[in-house]
Amino acid sequence: MKFIATDIEDSPNRLEANVASQKSRPGFAIDNYFYRSHVTYARELDRIFYKSWLYAGHISQVPNEGDFFLYEIGEDSIIVSRSVGGEIYASMNICRHRGARVCDELKGNRKTFVCPYHGWVYGLDGSLRAARDMEAKADFSIGDYGLKSVNLIEYEGLLFINFDPEAPDFIPALDRIKVTLEPYDLANSKVVHSQVYRVDANWKLTLENYLECYHCATSHRAYAKLHTLQALDEKASKVNQAMLDRSEAQTGIKDISFELYEAYASEKAFGTGCTTTRYALYDGFLTGSEGGQPVAPLMGKFRDYDGGCGDFQFGIMTFMLNYPDHCVLYRFTPRGLTATDMEIVWFVRGDAEEGVDYDKDKVTWLWHNTTLEDEYIIRRNSEGLNSRFFEPGPYHPEFEFLCLEFVVWYLDTMGD
Ligand code: FES
Ligand SMILES: [Fe+2]
Repeated sequence: MKFIATDIEDSPNRLEANVASQKSRPGFAIDNYFYRSHVTYARELDRIFYKSWLYAGHISQVPNEGDFFLYEIGEDSIIVSRSVGGEIYASMNICRHRGARVCDELKGNRKTFVCPYHGWVYGLDGSLRAARDMEAKADFSIGDYGLKSVNLIEYEGLLFINFDPEAPDFIPALDRIKVTLEPYDLANSKVVHSQVYRVDANWKLTLENYLECYHCATSHRAYAKLHTLQALDEKASKVNQAMLDRSEAQTGIKDISFELYEAYASEKAFGTGCTTTRYALYDGFLTGSEGGQPVAPLMGKFRDYDGGCGDFQFGIMTFMLNYPDHCVLYRFTPRGLTATDMEIVWFVRGDAEEGVDYDKDKVTWLWHNTTLEDEYIIRRNSEGLNSRFFEPGPYHPEFEFLCLEFVVWYLDTMGD
């Protein structure tokens, strides 16, 4: 990002001082130090990203033995692969000899991973299978040098990883939102399309942008025409209540309007917070498409449209917006101090056929365009905020409430 000069007089002491001074200004956006500091970014990786549950991918990306894909985060790369016997593994893409990446392809099918440097060979489960001529070293044991493994769980077809061997269990948090997630039958759904939108901005700007809909009315005209989240609760409450009153009967799903908010400051264990809410589309609209009309067959157990959509959060950086006929997943991944990958994944039911039951362009239209709009506003936010003349202003108490919650959690996590 050519306009950003990052902080050069940086130190852990400065970070501590900035956390303390920020805590004395509750309700305000955070100082640009936090978006420009390499010390801060390194600490974020250590304390946040390498300790939280992160969405890696969907099981449909590894249907067969030998299938793999890479998830790249920060400077790191993780191989997610389906091994002989069907089990899925996550391994660090770092050779145990002298550290070369063992795999460069973003996805594919392999029998083994052969390090291109000196030819060490790894199995799909990460174990070291051969290390050329290393018998010359007397105490060398092949069993000691498998790729480092990363915790991986599957939930409703979603694969989550955690780098921390001591990480708290994620399943109890996911179970608390299961009642509203399960009806979409994501385990049997298929990915229509996924796309990475790289934005020249610190990851927190992409996250804060996702956490608030204050910008929706001004930046997302198509979205705002359909979704009541763009309005204050008071203005949308009638439409929302009418939807909630009919949602069970219309969808045929008990408790589909169950709500739970446990993200950030209210999470029960670090990096595991999950959230589910249901909010209404304006009358006459059934789903998140260009005209608000269906674009695919109903998902999972849905029997009809209720004029609502399910909003989800999994851990710190993954979200879903689930319409009755398709689901959209959002993942934000830091790729450096001033670069973030925003990945959008669109799902439809597993037996839907492209060209017959759905048209890919119609399914992806709304969120592809909305994400391009986000990319534009986040980049402009980054350009303005990185000026030495920037002074943080107040968050909106309702629209930007989640940003406020995030900042409280963030400062607690980053401080000593
Ligand atoms: S670095 Fe991989 S074999 Fe040497
Ligand atoms: Fe947006």
